[in-house]
Amino acid sequence: MTATARTTLVLSGTGKTGHRVASGLAARGVPLRVGSRRAEPPFDWQDPTTWEPALRGVDAAYVAYYPDAAFPGAAAVVAAFANQAVAAGAQHLVLLADRGAAEAERCEQAVRDSGAEWTIIRAGFISQNFSEAFLVELVRAGVVALPAGEVAEPFTDAEDIADVAVAALTENGHEGMVHEVTGPRLLTFADAVGEIAREARRKVRYLPVTPEQFVSSLTGRGVPTEYATLLTGLLVEVFDGSRATVTDTVERVLGRAPRDFAQYAREAAATGVWDESAGSSGAGGRAR
Ligand SMILES: NC(=O)c1ccc[n+]([C@@H]2O[C@H](COP(=O)([O-])OP(=O)(O)OC[C@H]3O[C@@H](n4cnc5c(N)ncnc54)[C@H](OP(=O)(O)O)[C@@H]3O)[C@@H](O)[C@H]2O)c1
Repeated sequence: MTATARTTLVLSGTGKTGHRVASGLAARGVPLRVGSRRAEPPFDWQDPTTWEPALRGVDAAYVAYYPDAAFPGAAAVVAAFANQAVAAGAQHLVLLADRGAAEAERCEQAVRDSGAEWTIIRAGFISQNFSEAFLVELVRAGVVALPAGEVAEPFTDAEDIADVAVAALTENGHEGMVHEVTGPRLLTFADAVGEIAREARRKVRYLPVTPEQFVSSLTGRGVPTEYATLLTGLLVEVFDGSRATVTDTVERVLGRAPRDFAQYAREAAATGVWDESAGSSGAGGRAR
C-alpha cells in the first residue's frame, strides 16, 4: 500500500487501540474515518447495513472486532466484513487478533482469504484493560479478581499495538506479515497489580479465582450471563501459559523498545484514573 491511499477506516476507532491508531494516522496526515456506533456514519458490527456507508471511498482498514476476535462467531462476521471491504475497493486490511485463541486464528484466516493485502497484529493482554476497560472498577475497589492463576503474561501496551498498526497502514513491507506484539517482560497478574498499587499509592491486590467465581462476580455486577460466560471462556483459553513469551516485534518494526508495564502504570496513575474518588470511566462496562 499506500502512497495512493484515500481514506483509512479505523474500526473500534474510539477504543483502546483504535483511538491511538486514529491519532497516529492523523499525525501523519492520513485521511481517516472512525468506525464505531457513535461515529458518523455509524458502523455497527451487528448491523451489516451500516458497513457500506462506512466503507465508501476506503482504501485500507484497521480491523479491531468488537467485542473480541476470540469470541465464538467472530470469524464469520469478520469474513463477511473483509469480503465486503474488498468488494468496496479496500486494498489493505490490518487485523488486530489475540495471541493463542482459536477463533482469533479463524479471523486471521478470513482476512487472508479476502483477497486484500493483509497484515495481522497478534497481541497479548493489553495493559490498558486496567485503566480503560472493566478492570478499572476492580482496581478502584481494591481487589482484581481474575481466573488467571499465577500465569505469566507479557502485558502489551496499546500504544505499541497502535504504532505497529500505523506503520503497517502507512509504510511498505508489512503486507503478508504477522506482527506478534508483546511487552518487554513477563509479569504475573500479582506482579502487575502490585505495580499498579505502588504507582497509585493504594492498597490493591490480585485475587486468583475459579472460572465459576469469575462468572458470578461479573453477573453480580450486571454483566449478562452469556457475555460473562464467553469472556471467562476466553480468559481461561488464553491464560493457559502458552503466551508466556516475549517477542522483538516492536523493536523490529518501530526501531524502539516496547513500553514497559511500569511506565504504563506510572502514567495511568498520574491521570487519577485509579483514585478512589474517580467516577466511572465511561468504559467501565466494557469487558476488555
Ligand atoms: N483487550 C485485550 O487485552 C486484547 C488483546 C488482544 C487482542 N484484542 C483484540 O482487540 C480487539 C478490540 O480492540 P480494542 O481493545 O482496541 O477495542 P475496545 O476498546 O474493546 O473497543 C471499544 C470500541 O468498540 C466500539 N464498539 C462497541 N460496540 C460496537 C459495535 N457493535 N460495532 C462497532 N463498534 C463497536 C466502541 O465504539 P462505540 O461504542 O461508539 O460503538 C469503541 O470504539 C478485539 O477484537 C480483541 O480480539 C484485545
